[in-house]
Amino acid sequence: MHENFLRAVVEILFENVVFASNQTKVVLWQPPQKLEQCFDFSLGQNGVTQEKLLVFLKNTIKFSVKTGHRYFINQLFSGLDPYGLAGQWLTDALNASVYTYEVAPVFTLMETHIIGEVCRMVGPQWGDGMFCPGGSTANGTAINLARFRYCPDIKKSGSCGLSRFVLFTSEECHYSIHKFASFIGIGEDNVILISTDSIGQIVPEDLDEKIKKELAEGAIPLAVIATLGTTVRGAFDPICEIAEICKKYNIWLHIDAAWGGGLIFSQKHRAKLNGIERADSIVINPHKLLAVPQQCSILLVKNRDILYECHSKHAEYLFQKDKYYDKSYDLGDKYLQCGRKCDVFKFWFMWKAKGSSGFANHIDTLMDLAEYFEGQIRERPEFMLVSPRQYMNVCFWYLPRYLQGKQNILDYSAQLHKVAPQIKAMMIKHGSVMMGYQPLKKLPNFFRFVSQNSSVTKKDVTYILDLISEIGTAIYKVGHVRGCKVKVWKV
Ligand SMILES: Cc1ncc(COP(=O)(O)O)c(C=O)c1O
Repeated sequence: MHENFLRAVVEILFENVVFASNQTKVVLWQPPQKLEQCFDFSLGQNGVTQEKLLVFLKNTIKFSVKTGHRYFINQLFSGLDPYGLAGQWLTDALNASVYTYEVAPVFTLMETHIIGEVCRMVGPQWGDGMFCPGGSTANGTAINLARFRYCPDIKKSGSCGLSRFVLFTSEECHYSIHKFASFIGIGEDNVILISTDSIGQIVPEDLDEKIKKELAEGAIPLAVIATLGTTVRGAFDPICEIAEICKKYNIWLHIDAAWGGGLIFSQKHRAKLNGIERADSIVINPHKLLAVPQQCSILLVKNRDILYECHSKHAEYLFQKDKYYDKSYDLGDKYLQCGRKCDVFKFWFMWKAKGSSGFANHIDTLMDLAEYFEGQIRERPEFMLVSPRQYMNVCFWYLPRYLQGKQNILDYSAQLHKVAPQIKAMMIKHGSVMMGYQPLKKLPNFFRFVSQNSSVTKKDVTYILDLISEIGTAIYKVGHVRGCKVKVWKV
């Protein structure tokens, strides 16, 4: 009875998700109140039949976002890799927990192999690593390691009575730095933001000055967090200069390469990571650039003992001292989690299927596409680049006719700020393309094109830009406000 049910489930997934994603809309958007009405979220005392469950399955798919769709370019993950999916399915079917060799023999050795391999790709001195439930948690774990390095007693006695700890990071950093500074008791206010230049990179002189200032005020600089591939602009901080500053002041250097770190596979673009080996810890998210299914995030550390020293608790009901095998194979005690989903297999399986060269081709194809996208933005008068592209991120404004060449008019920024959200709303209601937008520092809202799906083509780029132009032309009908032509916004 369950066999037929599960076969039917797989068939539905094949038909409606895996092999359908490009024929359907990215999303069949419903406002929350309407979705509450057209989807039965209720739970009851008695279960429902398998036939009904299959209908719920179909409905769930119907109203969900198809992140494998080529026009899902909303986030730093996308695409649907067949080997990754197979890996994910196997992981879920086996439902292992990778804390002891006993419970997860294959996955334990696989983790050790893959972390060893990625460490070797970073540099000869790289020691150890761990899988984390996402880049945010990995960043937080690294900050905690930096504090432990400074003050190992903190593990037992806590931070009470210690001086003010401070972290330094880019003003364009990922928000997880603030979240985890707050979570582990450093405090958001003690995250010191370093200015970025016109393309989004940390200004090293500002870093040096701010460290000096904090030291003069009696604070303890715990870590500098540099980013290789910032979330919005895809900027790469100047690691070599930052590493020199960290050396001068003896500060832990953590590199958030959650987005950019996958470049390690590409001969052609690896140079963007130059200096990465000088860090003390690095986060790389294979679930972003390499399109491994979520979640797959790795924290690497140079010091091979620090994960055990900082995290271990030696619980005897799990890591018994008198095990029937060499208990050094049990990985669980170097982790913060106890039960832990196996994230390694899908990554290993994809790597096995494609080889390192397959990942390199994937990256190089995506970079070529991003270059083409940027070229199109430069060519079309209705678009304007926010800043020159450094990576996969192409940040741009759509300029309605009445704003083209009118940077000097009063209200220009305020008017432009409204454009991307209005066009996005239309795209989502249409269900055709899902693309992210955001403001940045003082810049008004702009679109960010970013794809991790290497089957997206130049034709798709044309489609996306034509669509934005068409929607823009349709919604910004000519009117008059303050002497300049303005839109009439209708949805
Ligand atoms: C630079 C950077 N670091 C960290 C993260 C957080 O990663 P996750 O979403 O896996 O928590 C992101 C997410 O986009 C990111 O862009």
